Amino acid sequence: MSGGKLLATLAGTRFPTPPIWLMRQAGRYLPEYRAVRATTKSFLEFCYTPEKAVEVTLQPIRRFGLDAAIIFSDILVIPDALGQKVWFETGEGPKLEPLTDPAQFAQLSRARLSDYLAPVYRALTETRKALPEETALLGFAGAPFTLACYMIEGSGSRDFAKVKDWAYRWPDSFSILIDLLVDAIVDHLVNQIDAGADAVQLFDSHAGVLPEEQLFRWSLDPMMRIAQGVRLKHPGVPIIAFPRAVGPAALMYRRPDVFSALSLDTGIGAHWAAKELQPHICVQGNLDPIMLVVGGRAMEDEAKRILDKLGHGPFIFNLGHGVVPQTPPEHVAELVEIVRNWKPGA
Ligand code: CP3
Repeated sequence: MSGGKLLATLAGTRFPTPPIWLMRQAGRYLPEYRAVRATTKSFLEFCYTPEKAVEVTLQPIRRFGLDAAIIFSDILVIPDALGQKVWFETGEGPKLEPLTDPAQFAQLSRARLSDYLAPVYRALTETRKALPEETALLGFAGAPFTLACYMIEGSGSRDFAKVKDWAYRWPDSFSILIDLLVDAIVDHLVNQIDAGADAVQLFDSHAGVLPEEQLFRWSLDPMMRIAQGVRLKHPGVPIIAFPRAVGPAALMYRRPDVFSALSLDTGIGAHWAAKELQPHICVQGNLDPIMLVVGGRAMEDEAKRILDKLGHGPFIFNLGHGVVPQTPPEHVAELVEIVRNWKPGA
């Protein structure tokens, strides 16, 4: 079966040790990534150059033999494809010309999305050809609420006051944006699967800023509609949901009929997840990315603690969030060894 251990785990097979991949496994902590990154000034242009995207997607696979590659791209390619101005400022992260008025939604159009993002799909097809058969290839998208956060704030934010003000004050207007994003994300995920992605992950990185009562409408329900839309075209392709920082409200996302796995951030206790989530659904996570910076005994103890709690059930080893730039690459190699040598109860 192409996609090996990771796809088999998502389909319910158990192995002596879980598969492992890491969010942001391609990135600035790798010198070979920085070398390719230095050849293109604009980050989006880099994402839209298939040869470069393929190369950096493969780098962590060559170095560490992880069980999955995630296509090198970004969640903000969707607002870019819809016609919003998006750019990346070095050292400052993403910038967008913010939406300030519902009238601007009419200027966003998903008509050209598939053509505009064709380089991403070409990169997926080329990556699938170059990957070992047993390595799964993941596509991804940002979930509607997280994309709306960037589209309305115009950048990252400490409190996301503007996007929340809009959602609470004018929910019907905010729904129009969320619905447009649901349709655009379905298109983007279906295209990625058509191009060679074996599974996809939906990142709702900012879901945690919403109070629990608002989570269903703006985070979970749109993500479920996306999963249903993708399933119409690709019934068997696994969808991993990552509702970050939602705490015990992760229970709401425990929907094995809709999602194949739930990705857990660092704040969720492995013990709680083993009891409340894992009997129902495969889980992924949740090592603190800073443990990967620290390495050594601290990392080993924490990785083994997580394995002892979650390694017995359907589980994919990962971090609670992305690899950070100051991570020593050797620590990643050590982590892969720890996971592959883990023995239950030892
Ligand atoms: O290896 C992988 O995980 C695949 C590639 C990937 C990137 N971004 C590459 C990237 C993925 C899956 C993402 C997702 C993404 N992008 C998210 C969701 C996950 C999360 O982190 O919560 C979000 C919120 C974004 C938006 C975004 N893109 C931000 C906030 C930043 C700046 C952060 C930073 O570290 O500076 C980016 C830029 C970005 N996307 C980089 C990479 C490797 C770093 C920029 C560079 O190399 O110049």
